[in-house]
Amino acid sequence: MTENMVVPTHVGFIMDGNGRWAKQKGKPRNFGHQKGAENVEKVVSACFSNGIKYVSLYAFSTENWGRPESEVKKIMDLLYKFLIKYTKTLIKNEIKFMVSGDKGGLSNELRELIVKTEEITKNYSKTLNIAINYGGKQEIVNAVNRIIALGETQVNEETISNHLYTSELPDIDLVIRTSGEQRLSNFFIWQCAYSEFYFTPVLWPDFDEGCLQDAISWYSKRNRRFGKL
Ligand code: IPE
Ligand code: IPE
Ligand code: MG
Repeated sequence: MTENMVVPTHVGFIMDGNGRWAKQKGKPRNFGHQKGAENVEKVVSACFSNGIKYVSLYAFSTENWGRPESEVKKIMDLLYKFLIKYTKTLIKNEIKFMVSGDKGGLSNELRELIVKTEEITKNYSKTLNIAINYGGKQEIVNAVNRIIALGETQVNEETISNHLYTSELPDIDLVIRTSGEQRLSNFFIWQCAYSEFYFTPVLWPDFDEGCLQDAISWYSKRNRRFGKL
């Protein structure tokens, strides 16, 4: 990374385009998910070596349940295998792992693995946050319901922030969405209120460290005013 780069503290990835990547190669969609999953480790490690402290990944949305059962099963399977294999790296590189989303909707096996991995890595500071069975609107509704359950009758920005899955994380500075789509698709809508948005036509399985560097240098040139002059 060249000098004078402004490195974002928290980067969120909307890892999109696995299906189209596979289609371009005349392969089934699940092959794209396989390649997409294989790409995660490299990109996450490039993020941390570039000085990014928090990485959030969109792996499975509440809306993704609407896909064919065989595809959903494949994605869940890949998440499980990813986590089994990645635990060693998390420990070696002192990365805190966490999941944002409704774990109650996942299989017992996956949920238990997630909880165990979160527990083992909880004292590390660099953070990998994976959104699984996650929806931004659902997250805010859950937060408000939890606040109500505590007996509160009013909310403010701080109380809502404190009850989101990401209560311990700073807001997202930079969102990177692959595959050319230019939308948020319910990704951390609260935490992205003041993010910069970087859209690239590159499909997720092809997104590499060079693409990340391009995104960071683009981010470096942004003038973040936060409403001021
Ligand atoms: C992103 O790739 C992965 C998930 C949503 C789980 P897609 O599966 O959405 O790929 P496209 O958008 O169909 O190409
Ligand atoms: C967003 O991608 C969800 C993930 C990357 C996990 P989708 O492919 O599901 O989103 P849409 O359908 O293009 O909005
Ligand atoms: Mg998609």
